Amino acid sequence: MKIKYLGHASLAIETNGKNIIVDPFITENELAKHIDVTALKADYILITHAHGDHITDVELIAKNTGATIVSNAEIAGHYQAKGFNTHPMNHGGSWNFDFGKVRFVNAIHSSSFPDGSYGGQPGGFVIEADKKIYIAGDTALTYDMKLIPLRTKLDLAILPIGSNFTMDDEDAAIAAEYVQVTRVLGYHYDTFGYIKINHEHAKQVFSSKQKELILLEVGSSIEV
Ligand code: NI
Ligand code: MN
Repeated sequence: MKIKYLGHASLAIETNGKNIIVDPFITENELAKHIDVTALKADYILITHAHGDHITDVELIAKNTGATIVSNAEIAGHYQAKGFNTHPMNHGGSWNFDFGKVRFVNAIHSSSFPDGSYGGQPGGFVIEADKKIYIAGDTALTYDMKLIPLRTKLDLAILPIGSNFTMDDEDAAIAAEYVQVTRVLGYHYDTFGYIKINHEHAKQVFSSKQKELILLEVGSSIEV
């Protein structure tokens, strides 16, 4: 599994021969100006919630690629009504896609569309493919995270660390303990003033718990 960081909470995942885009917010991200959205490949677009900083480029990418949009029932319904291919899910449910299994799990956050319309309840995704990962979405630290390792032995967790709208680095390090991972990819930081972080401090918080925090340059990748 290869995971490319597209800035903010946007990811491009390659697994089992399929391309998955997560929460695309690229054309409006000053830190992601060098990413060419029209060149992105996508068989699926996973959306954690309806906030503008997670959906800006969904329609552009879906139009270019014909990708299937996977999200909660309300967000999937929103895009289905516009003619896109969708797959609706809800919390606790799993589906076997052609690349692997996806489970929609709890997040503590909100989820209205930019125009204020209802975007259902926010979530995260557990993906079980050639590797097993947890994409937390925007969330507070929550005891629900302890449920994930009861079903899935994760190789990596992708956690928000920017604070203000989500967990900070210290809560994310506790989340890493809850979901029982040693490697964490941090996201949802530095994009705007509210979520600028001290990278060295964040890495120290994790290393003090014998965890590794990976912070990628926008456009660079890791192999899981
Ligand atoms: Ni949000
Ligand atoms: Mn957000």
